[in-house]
Amino acid sequence: MRLLFLGDIVGRTGRNAVIERLPGLIDRYKLDFVVINGENAAGGFGITEEIVRDVLDAGADVITTGNHAFDQREALVFAERQPQFLRPVNYPLGTPGRGANLFVARNGARVLVVNAMGRIYMDALDDPFAVIDREVSACPLGEQADAIVIDFHAEATSEKQAIGHHLDGRVTLVVGTHTHVPTSDCRVLPGGTAYQSDAGMCGDYDSVLGMEKEEPVRRFLTKVPSGRFQPSGGPATLCGLAVEVDDTTGLARAVSPLAIGGVLEERLPTFWG
Ligand SMILES: [Fe+2]
Ligand SMILES: [Fe+2]
Repeated sequence: MRLLFLGDIVGRTGRNAVIERLPGLIDRYKLDFVVINGENAAGGFGITEEIVRDVLDAGADVITTGNHAFDQREALVFAERQPQFLRPVNYPLGTPGRGANLFVARNGARVLVVNAMGRIYMDALDDPFAVIDREVSACPLGEQADAIVIDFHAEATSEKQAIGHHLDGRVTLVVGTHTHVPTSDCRVLPGGTAYQSDAGMCGDYDSVLGMEKEEPVRRFLTKVPSGRFQPSGGPATLCGLAVEVDDTTGLARAVSPLAIGGVLEERLPTFWG
């Protein structure tokens, strides 16, 4: 089974890159399942239902989010009726929507996707280790799930690596999101779980985290806000991971970083030809 994960979509340029390029990628690589983090898709803050539809129409199977999940107030409503939209699973009881769900891939495989948020330099939420454990034990790999994808939305690489090792051998992929910069530690862990501390973003890298660079630089220099953060409008790089999944075990056979377009150097998976 062939799995693609793409990092946080930032603004219009990120959205357009996903919508324009994803159908071709699905076709070219015969992708079975696609997960994309969409938490910054609407002007850098949250996601609207219209954008959710556009990204799903382009071929995404699931849209994950993070701390920006509800920046667009309408998400409080559509989160309830849109099963392909996930917000962090360790949000307080009563938060609209869901943080984990079981999906059927194009090859018929059952894929559990869990979106969780870290707690280091982030909001004080329920323990992500315990909550992910609960979700994975309720739907174990090789039993109820043929593949399991964890989008761990967190700041600290220590917490991300710890989650990776904690879940190694029990899930297909643990990938970090939120920091918008792809890390170069992509590998299959000893137990067979594909891992990368951060997937990077789908946005313009001639920026600060996808935002026009002038205002963030000014704020670091003076601490005085003099404008709003606006998504940077240059050509976007699609950033993420390609995972070749072993159909018998549900673990990762191979994983590769992926970067297409924009100012970053192009990286394509070699194992899919
Ligand atoms: Fe983000
Ligand atoms: Fe985030």
